[in-house]
Amino acid sequence: MKIAFVGKGGSGKTTLSSLFIRHLAARGTRVVAVDADINQHLGAALGLSEEESAALPAMGAHLPLIKDYLRGANPRITSAETMIKTTPPGEGSRLLRLGEDNPVYTACARNVPLDGGPVRLMATGPFTESDLGVACYHSKTGAVELFLNHLVDGREEFVVVDMTAGSDSFASGMFTRFDMTFLVAEPTRKGISVYRQYKEYARDFGVPLKVVGNKVHSDDDLEFLHEAVGDDLLVAVGHSEWVRAMEKGRGRPFAELEGSNSRALETLYETADAVYPQRDWERYMRQMVHFHLRNAESWGNTRTGVDLAAQVDPSFVLREEAAPQPV
Ligand SMILES: Nc1ncnc2c1ncn2[C@@H]1O[C@H](COP(=O)(O)OP(=O)(O)OP(=O)(O)O)[C@@H](O)[C@H]1O
Ligand SMILES: [Mg+2]
Repeated sequence: MKIAFVGKGGSGKTTLSSLFIRHLAARGTRVVAVDADINQHLGAALGLSEEESAALPAMGAHLPLIKDYLRGANPRITSAETMIKTTPPGEGSRLLRLGEDNPVYTACARNVPLDGGPVRLMATGPFTESDLGVACYHSKTGAVELFLNHLVDGREEFVVVDMTAGSDSFASGMFTRFDMTFLVAEPTRKGISVYRQYKEYARDFGVPLKVVGNKVHSDDDLEFLHEAVGDDLLVAVGHSEWVRAMEKGRGRPFAELEGSNSRALETLYETADAVYPQRDWERYMRQMVHFHLRNAESWGNTRTGVDLAAQVDPSFVLREEAAPQPV
């Protein structure tokens, strides 16, 4: 289950992503955490020290390795250089599983110890291809997108992505890569305006979207959110002393998180899990191809000098059976 946390800057995306990741780990659900923000904060929210957080490998710096591994023996992708962030997998491509060991995790993932066991954490990092002067391909999250597009995840297997608030994800199609998007909104007009924008994009592509109210202090706050987003409002999270204590460096065991917040996290889990039976890998592939062709036309073909439409394998569909989970 691929889960994104999005929302206005400062709304609490990183905080709620980290709490949800901790919740999944504590309930014994397999989870990989992904920080897709170039200003890395997820590691710290998961309890890493500043130094540990800064020492996380950057996925953006390992793009050649990631591309070479994923394209495998796919004859339609002739080199890593012609593989762009939207290049879809096809026959011969290497698919990824959450629990396996592979060169991508070895290069890009680090284990973070949480109550409930260690969790793999990956980060986009501050460095990407576009920093090399190949401007304007806004591929800050290109490595994450490639990862998601080659990932075969099953039930009780979660990838939780802490996303930037920018519009990158609309252009590349990244926002269609998730089984569930949790939009974090404070009860303010600005919080709601990001919701409206996201909702518009999401509607056109059938992207499941739910609102998680954050820093909700009163009935009036709750009423405001409900009026603005209606039934899209899933739960509301209040101010958390547990979070505050952690920010002061006085972290407490996760079991001591406020009961109401803990129940809210379980609701997020149940809501995401309920989508599992409706997952549609064919639609997933279709949208992947749609955005690949769009990116190919708008910049990819010119940039790589080849016709990137030829990378599409028309008969290929990702499915769980395509890559069994190692035992
Ligand atoms: N429910 C909460 N209880 C207490 N503090 C909170 C809560 N939610 C968020 N915060 C605090 O608010 C601040 C902003 O939260 P956070 O960093 O998670 O937001 P963000 O959306 O990830 O921001 P950015 O857009 O900068 O990435 C942090 O100091 C965080 O600890
Ligand atoms: Mg953040």
